[in-house]
Amino acid sequence: MYKILHAENLAGNIFLMQVEAPRIAKHCEPGQFLIVRIDEVGERIPLTICDYDKEAGTITIVFQPVGASTERMSHLKTGDSFIDVVGPLGQPSEFIHEDMEELKKKKMLFVAGGVGTAPVYPQVKWLHEHGVDVDVIVGAKTKDLVILEKEMEAVAGNLYVTTDDGSYGRHGMVTKVIEDLTAEGKQYDVCVAIGPMIMMKFCCLTTKKLNIPTIVSMNPIMVDGTGMCGACRVVVGDEIKFACVDGPEFDGHLIDWAQAMKRQAMYKTEEGRALLKLRE
Ligand code: NAD
Ligand code: FES
Repeated sequence: MYKILHAENLAGNIFLMQVEAPRIAKHCEPGQFLIVRIDEVGERIPLTICDYDKEAGTITIVFQPVGASTERMSHLKTGDSFIDVVGPLGQPSEFIHEDMEELKKKKMLFVAGGVGTAPVYPQVKWLHEHGVDVDVIVGAKTKDLVILEKEMEAVAGNLYVTTDDGSYGRHGMVTKVIEDLTAEGKQYDVCVAIGPMIMMKFCCLTTKKLNIPTIVSMNPIMVDGTGMCGACRVVVGDEIKFACVDGPEFDGHLIDWAQAMKRQAMYKTEEGRALLKLRE
């Protein structure tokens, strides 16, 4: 059993849980995900990792209810347990394998949208701990939905918060901030954009125009996270990849967004899942 040491409603319907899982915490790297199961009959739920503490043996997850299982999960309290937590899964972010001196010379921009702020945090934290300061844009619909601002501020070189309605920070979507920062003279060698699919797609369109190579996380198209269901099949350039095994991070400029978004929409329903299975 994996005990929930702390459960909190972060904002709106966004929840944070810190879970005791020493073996997983010990091996976690930024960019990876894990799978939780509430009980014997529960679905496998793939979730990005928001934070981990190798010494304390804990991992932190942040999620939004999107179906019956995540809705049930949101009712778990401090002291409750998960029957299963499996991970870390997927490939870590590529930069952890780069030469540190080269990495320190790079100008990196992280773009976090809504709940996607959670998986961006451990990446920015890892870089900060290794002496690399990066720029971070955090976007949310409105002031009350901005999450992890204090935590991000502590590890980011520069933090730019923006809200769609202008109720806090800058006014406008994250893509507008990318354009504004570059117009203000900022130059970036690489961008990492993580959030809803539509945001990642439009970030890629923006960074393509600006010639900034861009990495995205295809976590939102996963269903069981095991490499078995085929839901997370994604076309990257002329290759077919599985987000849960080969990713979740890929070159965003090579992704077939129309196909990925169509699959995500179809996999939301039982009927759509059955249809896609028939076709494959
Ligand atoms: P949201 O809809 O509130 O969007 C967050 C921000 O993304 C917005 O404030 C805006 O700045 C930007 N954005 C949205 N649409 C855009 C567009 N068309 N063009 C440019 N920018 C745009 O986000 P949310 O409700 O918090 O997101 C929930 C989604 O996040 C879920 O679908 C979930 O799958 C996804 N998510 C993704 C990851 C990942 O690894 N990629 C991780 C966790 C959650
Ligand atoms: Fe099922 Fe990747 S999520 S195969």
